[in-house]
Amino acid sequence: MSTIALVGAQWGDEGKGKIIDILSLRSDMVVRAQGGDNAGHTVIVNDEVYKLRIIPSGILYHNTQCIVGNGVVVNPKVILEEMDNLSARGVSLDNLKIDARAHVILPYHIILDGLAEDARGKADIGTTKKGIGPCYMDKAERIGIRMYDLVHPEIFKQKLERNVSIKNSYINKIYGAEPLDFEQIYNEYCEYGKRLQPYVCDTSSIIYKAIKENKRVLFEGAQGALLDLDMGTYPFVTSSHPTSGGFCVGAGIGPTLIDKCLGIAKAYTTRVGKGPFPTELEDEIGDHIRKVGCEFGTVTGRPRRCGWLDLVILRFAVRVDGLTGLALNKLDTLSGLPKLKVCVAYKRGNTVLNDFPPDINELAECEPIYEELDGWNENLCDVKAYEELPENAKKYIEFIEKNIECPVKMIGIGPQRTQNLYKD
Ligand code: GDP
Ligand code: IMO
Ligand code: MG
Repeated sequence: MSTIALVGAQWGDEGKGKIIDILSLRSDMVVRAQGGDNAGHTVIVNDEVYKLRIIPSGILYHNTQCIVGNGVVVNPKVILEEMDNLSARGVSLDNLKIDARAHVILPYHIILDGLAEDARGKADIGTTKKGIGPCYMDKAERIGIRMYDLVHPEIFKQKLERNVSIKNSYINKIYGAEPLDFEQIYNEYCEYGKRLQPYVCDTSSIIYKAIKENKRVLFEGAQGALLDLDMGTYPFVTSSHPTSGGFCVGAGIGPTLIDKCLGIAKAYTTRVGKGPFPTELEDEIGDHIRKVGCEFGTVTGRPRRCGWLDLVILRFAVRVDGLTGLALNKLDTLSGLPKLKVCVAYKRGNTVLNDFPPDINELAECEPIYEELDGWNENLCDVKAYEELPENAKKYIEFIEKNIECPVKMIGIGPQRTQNLYKD
């Protein structure tokens, strides 16, 4: 059995797309199991930039089967645009499958996401406004429309008619906005259903069969541990489970079918959206990291908040994800900074905290306790092996490993497929 789960170990955008793409070369199947088009996974191959939203980042390899699992929320319009875009660039979609149980994002979800955010005013979450939360709400309320329904027009009609009526009450009576037209949505989405129908099936059994046949399966996480609905910085989280446990439910497989779990982290910390961020740098070093690391959201283009590496967060990810290894991306971005601070614990009042607190009110009161390490000046982009890294870069990595008790297996030194080092 050779299955690896890849998860974001921070607040998302850790470079998961790049690592999945690298590992896909030696994989038979890549599976997305949660989230939707709130995700933006960048893969860069020479001059070509691919920004994948719902389709797994393994799609660039012709022989890799790509699965959109039952736990994903699918915006049919967006996935079709993504498919068209990939086809136009010569990427085959023959190996794509979408689970019949995956829930469908409909126009009222997107509208309600925006209206709810506006109504929250200053207390907004900073969502991507892609309708993710409202779609998962319908799933939990058991009124959701699934891919199976979308590709069966009679079933779709009944459910959509009921839901448009319910949602129009919220949209119009609570928020005072324009109600939606059922016929228009029905006609548009029936067309999407027709196009997606050949891809819709029971993917849980396909994944199981692949694992039983000893195929190499990668599970591609979206978002990151701190955006997990249960374990993250609630309420500044997404509405799914980006922690490794989410793969079991979202791909329809048992936990014993996952061999290893690789966490993906940046060599510093970023987040988009609101919520406390202990190591945030609201100064020229933060601006420098944002500029050098091109830290602007893949989906919304928002500037990402940047800060020093936080090992309390990485230890949290090691625990909640059961990490067996870490891929550390963007080490190259830190070149040229004379001193690097690393947060090893938090101080809250007179108490030292080694564990990430369970509530954001406590987190907001935490001050980082830093250790300072020497930086390096060398440009890392062309380094070919771990041993060739500057001594201080190696010390930085070894400091992390020791502190979080998890080995660093891969090191990112640039956005290209080839800019990646392996460490034993
Ligand atoms: P994801 O959502 O986790 O897949 O990450 P994103 O694609 O949203 O953001 C990561 C960004 O960092 C993308 O622009 C990547 O091309 C880029 N990137 C990934 N790894 C590296 C790296 O090691 N060095 C540099 N400089 N950029 C990287
Ligand atoms: P990838 O997979 C970074 C954040 C949003 C917001 C919160 C809730 O590219 O790492 P949502 O629209 O999900 O209801 O928004 O979650 N968020 C992400 N931040 N990377 C992502 O995905 C994210 N997906 C959602 O910014 O703070
Ligand atoms: Mg992203």
